[in-house]
Amino acid sequence: MREFLYYSKKAVTSGKLIHGDMMKAGRMDIVLNVIIQIFFISNKMRDDVKLHLVFEGKGGNPKHLIFESNPEMPISKKDVGGLIKRMLYKSSGELKEIFPGCFIEDKNFESVLRDLEKDGKRILVLDERGKDIRKVKFNGGEVFVMGDHEGFGKKKKFLKGFEKISVGPVVYFASQVGVLINGELDRRLSDY
Ligand SMILES: C[S@@+](CC[C@H](N)C(=O)[O-])C[C@H]1O[C@@H](n2cnc3c(N)ncnc32)[C@H](O)[C@@H]1O
Repeated sequence: MREFLYYSKKAVTSGKLIHGDMMKAGRMDIVLNVIIQIFFISNKMRDDVKLHLVFEGKGGNPKHLIFESNPEMPISKKDVGGLIKRMLYKSSGELKEIFPGCFIEDKNFESVLRDLEKDGKRILVLDERGKDIRKVKFNGGEVFVMGDHEGFGKKKKFLKGFEKISVGPVVYFASQVGVLINGELDRRLSDY
């Protein structure tokens, strides 16, 4: 299983705040790109991906959404946007599966990372100044954590103690970082 986490300080936390322009929903347009680029390859969905999204924008409590590879997941941005909107509407606080492979709960970024750590996951924070990904060994228990268009902002302090890795010397879009990590893992599949 490949596990990713995308953190957004601005992505809205209420379905009511998603209407029409996804850019105006705390840059939900970036979220859609991340989902599509991380899950899909030509003509099919990857079958071994788990993606955590943490939204801490306007609307309500911080939300933790989890998507697991599922053949029913839509591929168009419009449909993925509708899926997120419905998940936010149906959210009740406790962890709940809203659609097959799509879960939501109230939880902030720090708690999500701490819980992943408790589960034995190795947290790798994506940062262009981190250790070159090509020099990092993986065993399948990693969670790749990336920020939104504003990066991690004030969460940087909390992230200080975690390993940082880089996919290259320039700053990429989060969705591009996802593609580069998937490409690196595809090349190393035989190592797992
Ligand atoms: C568009 S970038 C954020 C840019 C933002 N202005 C900043 O200061 O971080 C989105 C996220 O992608 C990841 N990222 C971008 N380029 C990267 C690179 N070369 N190596 C590793 N991670 C990268 C980081 O996690 C970053 O938070």
